Amino acid sequence: MLLEKIFFRPIRFQDLVYPPDYSSKGKLRKNNVVIRAEWYQTNAFSVPVIMTSDLHHRTMNVFQRLMSILDISKYVVITAGDMAGKSSGGHGIRGSDNDPTEAYQFILKHAKAFYFIQGNHDLPHPDRMELRLKNADGTRCSLHNTILNIEGIGTIGGVDGIISNKSHPYKFREKDYIGMLKGILRQRVKILVTHETPAIKLFEPRMKHKMNSLIGKDRLFELVMRYSPKIHLYGHCHHPKPIIPHVNTIFVNADSRILIFEPIS
Ligand SMILES: [Fe+2]
Repeated sequence: MLLEKIFFRPIRFQDLVYPPDYSSKGKLRKNNVVIRAEWYQTNAFSVPVIMTSDLHHRTMNVFQRLMSILDISKYVVITAGDMAGKSSGGHGIRGSDNDPTEAYQFILKHAKAFYFIQGNHDLPHPDRMELRLKNADGTRCSLHNTILNIEGIGTIGGVDGIISNKSHPYKFREKDYIGMLKGILRQRVKILVTHETPAIKLFEPRMKHKMNSLIGKDRLFELVMRYSPKIHLYGHCHHPKPIIPHVNTIFVNADSRILIFEPIS
């Protein structure tokens, strides 16, 4: 049987504009923060899907605004981490950590279903409530070290956090992170979700034999290439384009973006 090639066809976009953040040193930055909502038509799913990450302290506000422009009760929402942060006077504080559980509960209440992995600026709930969040069909919202088969989407699994030697609940030494990643990839999931960014190597067409490497982790990219999930959703670092088809995988960079996928009817 011939398998149809997955496509994501851009339809339109809308920019959501927010006041500037404070730098980590407490200085108010100059530029507004623009979060782009982008609509795509796709044959990858048979249900409408929203993918996003790295909204930091704006998560609740972004979802409230989204609810004024679309009916999120029809959408499965999948987030790839860093969905909380601290703010002061309406301005976010870059690099600040916080617990996203309240924002997760808000999304879970309004969306058709909700799934997440945690980022390096997320903190666990004091009672680990994030691990007990469940959808109406009983599926766990956390995708960490878990593989689910979601109706209309397919098999999906993920790994929390990033590769780092620093001490943090969602920072893992490379050996441990890679062990968890292999545990998901060996099951041949259709969709891999990580917060960590793959260092995608793109062939530079004008310069023969030259590769253009995007910011990220080489080891993550190598393993995704080896196991070839159909889709790799990730956040953390910002790649120039949100949809990057490469060999047998479509990389989806949701960092500070809202990607809205409408299935072809
Ligand atoms: Fe991050």
